[in-house]
Amino acid sequence: MNRHRQTSKQGPGSRVTTSGDIEVSTYLEISQEKRVHKPQPSGLKSLQQGRMASETILVMDFGSQYSRLIARRIRELHVYCELIPAQTSWDEVEHLNPKGVILSGGPASVYEEDAPVAPAWVYGKGLPVLGICYGMQLLAHQLGGRVEPSTVREYGHAELYQNDDSSPLFNELPHSLPVWMSHGDRVAELPPGFKVLAYTDNAPIAAMGNDSGMLGIQFHPEVAHTVPGKALIENFLVKICGCLQDWTATNFVEEAVQQIKTRVGAGRVICALSGGVDSAVVAAIVHRAIGDQLTCIFVDNGLMRREEPERVVYTFQQNLKMNLIHVDAQERFLAALTDVVDPEEKRKIIGKEFIVVFEQEATKLGQVDFLAQGTLYPDVIESQSAENNPSAKIKTHHNVGGLPENMAMELIEPLRYLFKDEVREVGLELGLPEEMVFRQPFPGPGLAIRIIGSVTHEKLDALRTCDWVVMDEIKGSNLYRDLWQSFAVLTDTRSVGVMGDFRTYGHVVAIRAVTSDDAMTADWARLPYQILAKISNRIVNEVPEVNRVVYDITSKPPGTIEWE
Ligand code: XMP
Repeated sequence: MNRHRQTSKQGPGSRVTTSGDIEVSTYLEISQEKRVHKPQPSGLKSLQQGRMASETILVMDFGSQYSRLIARRIRELHVYCELIPAQTSWDEVEHLNPKGVILSGGPASVYEEDAPVAPAWVYGKGLPVLGICYGMQLLAHQLGGRVEPSTVREYGHAELYQNDDSSPLFNELPHSLPVWMSHGDRVAELPPGFKVLAYTDNAPIAAMGNDSGMLGIQFHPEVAHTVPGKALIENFLVKICGCLQDWTATNFVEEAVQQIKTRVGAGRVICALSGGVDSAVVAAIVHRAIGDQLTCIFVDNGLMRREEPERVVYTFQQNLKMNLIHVDAQERFLAALTDVVDPEEKRKIIGKEFIVVFEQEATKLGQVDFLAQGTLYPDVIESQSAENNPSAKIKTHHNVGGLPENMAMELIEPLRYLFKDEVREVGLELGLPEEMVFRQPFPGPGLAIRIIGSVTHEKLDALRTCDWVVMDEIKGSNLYRDLWQSFAVLTDTRSVGVMGDFRTYGHVVAIRAVTSDDAMTADWARLPYQILAKISNRIVNEVPEVNRVVYDITSKPPGTIEWE
């Protein structure tokens, strides 16, 4: 995932989304110009190297915005699945022990000339197949039925009625179900051997199936608006594909530990810790596998929140007894940031300093064979789609840039198969503190991009106290986990106030709290007034430099989550 923001000079629409706890890999990316390693092969080939499940559901992606959501739903049901491009061959997936295939929705129409189709093996291997929306139309089209543009396009809620209540797909579900539709085309004629399983007012064939486990549904079971959607997917997985639902955090940890042991042997591994959940889980799992052969490096850049560096050191060194190198590089980062105002300049400097410090510490260790890194499945999916587009370059997170050539390290990416919620489950399974596992995302450049203008010790101290108040109140009201992020920004605006008999001229602090699923879009949180009042009151009382507090009510888009 390319997490570099483009500069404001490139126009207002050019900022790039980033997600979650990614700071360490971001730094490694930033230094990619100095890259000396070949990118790790991404996509299916490398997934094959470390499959950790006994069975797999393949989700063939035809470009729907919901494909990833289908995959997440399946994983939530404890079945391992992989998202694969439409042109994937059987040879590439056979080793995954597929138990069934889901054909996703997509923007095309099956009768368009270049419409993507499913390869022949999808229908020829005797596997159950569930086509969703475009996937259903594809099933009909490829198996001899007919698809036509619908006279009424159907978007949003619809009531679905089962025909005879006997299909295992609708096992134990009521006769009529609220579902969510989004389609322009519809199946007009069934393929031979199929029967209608359900209908809506506008779609006489809203679900169809044959006796060999080929099924199509016009609606989207993966979205939350289809209330029985998860039960329906579970029926497909369990009743039709016979999946065992053994994809659990416990099984994952056991398998991953075994694989890391085998791969590392007597080698040495380093891992950069950031304080965030991904790098923490990577470190914990590698440590469980190889103990003291792992050394973690934690670079304290002085831009973290109050008590955060102490917490990292306590958790990993005292509590988990890991080899931890804690580098206090606060002064160095601050010196490099002197008088720097431009956000992108700040990011570049922080990234560069991180690489220099990390490199110095890593070199001191002598021979190190592996670098453990927190690449997650969404990053892999993104690389895969980049790979399938010949003109798109392989994403930079596969590159370990900036490390010295004599440190020819291989990458270990134990979380490469996991979604963020699964990473959290694994973190809990490994005994990491809940506070760390459920930490809200915090950007790599830290408080530097929450101080508008130049960064100084004084401003950092003031912002830390404001941030502390926000956290305290949000946690105290049990809202912490409901919010994607909540924090304070020290603006460069000064305002006049009055305190007692004196006029003041202090900083304006902005409070930002957003809800989001993936940081790609976000909505400002409707925090209760009394919490905002408490935060405001405490900040102006506890932080002498601040005399005004405002609340940011901008969503993303058009705003971004961070101010810089
Ligand atoms: P924006 O501000 O683009 O942020 O809406 C989306 C998510 O990414 C985080 N973020 C960063 N994380 N390095 C990071 O590691 C960065 O430079 C960076 N900028 C933003 C932000 O906190 C939010 O979660």
